[in-house]
Amino acid sequence: MKSGFGKAHGKIILMGEHSVVYAQPAIALPFKQVTVTTTINESDVLSVDCIYHKGLLKDSPKQLENLQAVVEAVLLKLNKVDETFRIIIESTIPQERGMGSSAAVANATIAAIYDYFGVSLDAKTQFELAQISETIAHGNPSGLDAQVTVSAKPLYFIKDQIPETFDIMSRGYLVIADTGEKGQTRLAVASLQEKHKQNPGRVEAMIKGLGSLTNNTKEYLTTNNLEALGALMNTSQSYLREMGISNSTLDRLVSISVQSGALGAKLTGGGWGGCMLALTDNPQTAMKISETLMRSNARQTWLYSFAP
Ligand code: PMV
Repeated sequence: MKSGFGKAHGKIILMGEHSVVYAQPAIALPFKQVTVTTTINESDVLSVDCIYHKGLLKDSPKQLENLQAVVEAVLLKLNKVDETFRIIIESTIPQERGMGSSAAVANATIAAIYDYFGVSLDAKTQFELAQISETIAHGNPSGLDAQVTVSAKPLYFIKDQIPETFDIMSRGYLVIADTGEKGQTRLAVASLQEKHKQNPGRVEAMIKGLGSLTNNTKEYLTTNNLEALGALMNTSQSYLREMGISNSTLDRLVSISVQSGALGAKLTGGGWGGCMLALTDNPQTAMKISETLMRSNARQTWLYSFAP
């Protein structure tokens, strides 16, 4: 029996979320502890099997509108519009938490369909197809998620430019915590656009400020200056708060992390819920921060080591 397989992973934005939409640089890390796999099997009908829906793809709920669009686009591109198969999606990436779930599902599914038909897939085609899904999910995506969810290495990313991969020469640890609240990237991006119209001077200054923080982050990651990196994360959180991207849950977990010994902490991803990050230079403090965050109602935490 013919089959196809595709895989992608989660991501964390270390610096530059939202400002990346305005052509400032961002740094994103592949987060391989959470993954999505898509398997394609032969079938007489075009169907999907995932947490949101089991049945015909055309009967999918609204959450799968982007998946439906990307499958149609892939079949059109491959000249296979009348083909049918079963799409099985299995994921450990928390949905709508700023960890790149929608982009990873798109990337894994595109790769699986190409594999099923035995056609080789180049990075540019995969990115363009994944952006079809991201545009439906996010409105005006920078492309960062579509790139980093299939990247083996950290990315320094500027919209519409070829992303640069780099190695982290640092011994830091990040505690990643899920607030348990759904992030609302599309609405947060739209609200910042509105603020930008109302107060262009201040918002533009903060967007450029976040871009500078990203450039300094890259430098400190390659020189192992974790204290300075922590300070940048705190400054980034202040800007994101003033921009209206944070919320009270994220603010609370960020300040609890700093009180528990983090060198710095900030939200990650689209905001208005989702996840936050805290930086430390040793695994013991990371464990302590993680335990404190769990006692403070975080839904789940992960430990991410910069060392490969
Ligand atoms: O998918 P999320 O929630 O990680 O958000 C993506 C990051 C944004 O900068 C807010 C949007 C974008 O398209 O880059």
